[in-house]
Amino acid sequence: MIQPVADPVTIEQAAALLRSGALCAFPTETVYGLGADATNSDAVVKLYETKGRPRFNPLICHCADLAMAEHYALFSPLARELAAAFWPGPLTLVLPLKRESGLSDLVTAGLDTVGVRVPAHPLARDLIAALGRPVAGPSANPSGRLSPTTADHVHQGFAGRVPVLDGGPCEQGLESTILAVEGDTVTQLRAGALPRQQVEAALGRDIPVAAAGSAIAAPGMLRSHYAPNALLRLDASAPQSGEAWLGFGPGPAHDGPVLNLSPVGNLREAARNLFSYLARLDASGVAKIAVAPIPQNGLGEAINDRLDRAAAPRAAPAPGPGARA
Ligand code: TXA
Ligand code: MG
Repeated sequence: MIQPVADPVTIEQAAALLRSGALCAFPTETVYGLGADATNSDAVVKLYETKGRPRFNPLICHCADLAMAEHYALFSPLARELAAAFWPGPLTLVLPLKRESGLSDLVTAGLDTVGVRVPAHPLARDLIAALGRPVAGPSANPSGRLSPTTADHVHQGFAGRVPVLDGGPCEQGLESTILAVEGDTVTQLRAGALPRQQVEAALGRDIPVAAAGSAIAAPGMLRSHYAPNALLRLDASAPQSGEAWLGFGPGPAHDGPVLNLSPVGNLREAARNLFSYLARLDASGVAKIAVAPIPQNGLGEAINDRLDRAAAPRAAPAPGPGARA
């Protein structure tokens, strides 16, 4: 039987794990990340293997501050404007990679761009600062499954084999928004915890969304992702018998399992609850979860994106780890 590993209790213990080439999950304001020293290729290989993630899918490079990010990525004036407005926070910028900067090639999956982000969670920033190097960090879930918003989710996902720096439940509950910036152009690659409208208001211009399958789309935006075991039925007006109900706003009575993302219809509350409520309904063992309609404005864009992927037809599982990419 595999013995669960001991969790680090202090920042210094977590940094020592990363420094030694081991993995350590860490809290961010969005979701928990599975951390590895981004300059250590052996550690990054371990990360891909543990997550079961295809190697063509690059990792976000978490930095302590803008100065650290500028060491690895080339910032245009527009990229700097975005960083000044939204960092630290739930925004990842995909920027031209500075070669020979010491980052493992595996982090960028051989692309000539790098995704950088300065997280707002104090434990994440202190951890990166203590390490003194960037931390490569995908969401701390086995590839293709629901993203973790508590330390417990991480332990469950990896059967206790990954140490976790526990920072309590994540405040936002949805992954960062990803924007690709090339000179003076900006494109949204992934809707996330920073609503597109908020970025548009700050920049005073519209931000186009990358078309699925376009050349610059994030390689990780697979159609089926965030998959619970149960099937999902979206935009449902009411649950049918045998289904669980994931509500939003005042909901119908139901005698099956019920959770409400936000009884008052608040999108922030719904975003924070989304992954953990899906996981809880899934754990009840139902075959199908009916989901109330979620408005598409503000954070609704990211919530509906995750629900669409969770509901998408799944690829037939192949044997071995990484089957669920
Ligand atoms: O909130 C978040 O973003 C969390 C926390 C831990 O920071 N991280 C996260 O990582 O969601 P991950 O690996 O689950 O998703 C990162 C996405 C993937 O879809 C990946 O393809 C994309 O970012 N990405 C990373 N680097 C990229 C690059 N250079 N070009 C295009 N897409 C990139
Ligand atoms: Mg992920």
